[in-house]
This record gives sequence, structure tokens and C-alpha cells, in this order.
Amino acid sequence: MSVHTNIKKVTTHTLLEMKRRGEKISMLTAYDFSMARIIDSAGIDVILVGDSASNVMAGHETTLPITLDQMIYHASSVIRAVNRALVVVDLPFGSYQGNSKEALNSAIRIMKESGAHAVKMEGGREIKESIERILTAGIPVMGHLGLTPQSIYKFGTYTVRAKEEIEAQRLQEDSLLLQEYGCFGIVLEKIPAKLATVVSKDLSIPTIGIGAGNGTDGQVLVSHDMLGINNEFSPRFLRRYANLYEDIGRAVKNYVADVKSADFPNQNEQY
Ligand code: KIV
Repeated sequence: MSVHTNIKKVTTHTLLEMKRRGEKISMLTAYDFSMARIIDSAGIDVILVGDSASNVMAGHETTLPITLDQMIYHASSVIRAVNRALVVVDLPFGSYQGNSKEALNSAIRIMKESGAHAVKMEGGREIKESIERILTAGIPVMGHLGLTPQSIYKFGTYTVRAKEEIEAQRLQEDSLLLQEYGCFGIVLEKIPAKLATVVSKDLSIPTIGIGAGNGTDGQVLVSHDMLGINNEFSPRFLRRYANLYEDIGRAVKNYVADVKSADFPNQNEQY
């Protein structure tokens, strides 16, 4: 009998039920087996294999360079570790904006080659056709509105979005449209808390916020940021739960010192 028989897996329906009963949804990013194993075992509801892998794993300045093949590699590593969480994978820049057939092919590759449970796409009404075509193939889609890092060169900065009435209005409309198309949830990134609260109340599908205040149905953070592995990024919305940059640095310094002084390995650490 499998060890994991009793684990109740999180599905897109679970998230809808959580919203209905007012239970907040927890979501974090992961890009590799070891981190995904820790995060899943600790009880996270959703793991996002975000295209932020482009920043935190590969060291790129933006999310634009990461490829579909690289996202599939990260997603399949995560999937091998996960027993309970719903695993959502970002469709990377350039894999869905061209046309809906390309979008469908990209989503199918992610589902087939990684074993992921859903995909996430940035944008509103402009990607309607692609969302609907992917959904027709039975692939759940999560939306992403507000700060959409794949469009960074269009906006020019990573500052708070939808502060002006006209952009806020469009975001509200887009959130209702994404729900109408069939998305099972929407990430709201870096928008005013009041707007995120209104949007969340208007929708029957859950919203997951990052830098969008406490009125969303759940929260997401980049795991490397909240664990303090990346200590160069400290926006107001980020709460750090550990300082692994310092912890790992200290451990490595101790190891180097032990090797240099021939303290490591000792009698008990050899054959
Ligand atoms: O790629 C990512 O990590 C994301 C989150 C910031 C929501 O899209």
C-alpha cells in the first residue's frame, strides 16, 4: 500500500470550496525537487512553478528569457516531490502570445511532459482565445493580473499597478472576464489593497495576492524571497520567515574553516 494513500490532494475544486468557506489559500513557488518536497510536506495548498525561476534560479534580470523546455524541466522536478499540493506552472513568455494554437501546444507540452495540474497565464481580454482553447482541452487555467512581469518592457517599472481609476476599472473588468472564460483562480500582483478586496468580493473564483493586501482569498510569495535566500530584494509586501542567505553563508564558512584546519573529516566521519 502506498504511504501517501491518506493524503487528500488539493484540486482546483478544493480551492473553490476554500473560498466558499472563507479559508485562506497558501501558495509558494518552487522550482526543484528538494525545495518542493519541503514545501509540500509543510502543508502548502498550491505550488507555483513560476517563471520567476528565470530570476532566482538562472540569475536573469527579467522573466522573459526562460524557455518552455526549461519550465518543463523545473515542473517535472517539482511534480516528482509533491504528494498533496496543486502544482500550477507558468506558461513562459513567447509560448502563448502568438496565437491560440501555439498556446494550446505549449500548455499540452507542460501537462504531458511534466505531469503538472494546471497552467498560469498573464493577461486579460487580450488572451481570451488562448485561455478558452486551453480550457477546451481540459487543462485548468489560472489568470494573472496587475503587475505582469512578462510585460515589463511595456510598463517600464515594477511599481504598483492600477492606482489610476481607468486601469483599476480595466482590471476589474478583466477579472470578471477571466472568470467568465473559465479560469479557476487569479493571481493579483502589486495592486492597491482596496482594489484587490473589491475584485475578490466580486468573484466566485479565488484570488491569490502578492503585494495586494489582505482582502484576497490567498497569498503567494516567491519562496527564495520569503526564506531570505535572495537578500537583495526587499519590497514592502515581502515578509521574511528565515534568513537562509546568512545561515547558508555561515555554514559554508564553517565548512571551509574545518577543511582548511583538517578538522573535517574526523575519525567518525571516515571508513
Ligand atoms: O513567477 C512567479 O513567481 C509569479 C508569482 C510572483 C505570482 O508569477
